[in-house]
Amino acid sequence: MRRKLLVGNWKMNKNRSEALDFIQHFLNHNKIQQPGDLEVFIAPAYPLLESTYRATEHTALEVAAQDVSAHESGAYTGEVSADMLYSIGVKTVIIGHSERRRHFGERGPTLTQKIQRALRARMEVIYCVGEDAEARRKRRQFEAIEGQLDVLDDLDADDMGCISIAYEPVWAIGSGQSATPIQAQAMHRYIRDSITDRFSAELASFTSILYGGSLTPENATEIFAQPDVDGGLVGKAALNADRFIGLIKALSS
Ligand code: PGA
Repeated sequence: MRRKLLVGNWKMNKNRSEALDFIQHFLNHNKIQQPGDLEVFIAPAYPLLESTYRATEHTALEVAAQDVSAHESGAYTGEVSADMLYSIGVKTVIIGHSERRRHFGERGPTLTQKIQRALRARMEVIYCVGEDAEARRKRRQFEAIEGQLDVLDDLDADDMGCISIAYEPVWAIGSGQSATPIQAQAMHRYIRDSITDRFSAELASFTSILYGGSLTPENATEIFAQPDVDGGLVGKAALNADRFIGLIKALSS
């Protein structure tokens, strides 16, 4: 069976004391019996990764990075390598978030390089895809996603086994308007079929596909109930520990 994942992406929010307060509150209040196939992550900003990793060690909460350099090491001022992340215990990284694509111009070749750097460092990758409002309006959403999935063509089956996909329609991120369960399911099915075509039905059936975009404890249950939705990538609702626990509850039920 494929794993279920819930990933809280803090983006550029929370300083050190706010991050540690969240973790303390979360650990004190999360009484959910987490099923064995469910993994829960938070993804803080780089400077907080090590302290959050230490604060969550030996708990059911894991830590992921929001990004990684496309380069291995050397003269790349401001960059953080996959090896650096792995060396402090961070073994999962989000790559290709739409905010990285939009604000920092990240596209196919860079994203392929980032994925490969992360995999070579033995990290797992959550690769994000999502169409913008215009593509959806023109009914070209599947085409848009297919193009973003092309980066997977440079990977072999072993690599693909270390990748989860997050479907995050750009128009749903931070807008308060999530995709409907039907829209989410249709795209998740499409993505799974595309992985079947590129690799195999077996690999596709093991790949976790997460939904992201204005997920809340209120709308998550119905979205998570869709057969091809294996969890969520959450921004705003992951900034509050009680709301985040509400999402774990929705995914556990
Ligand atoms: P949101 O963000 O939950 O605030 O819409 C999701 C994301 O960007 O991953």
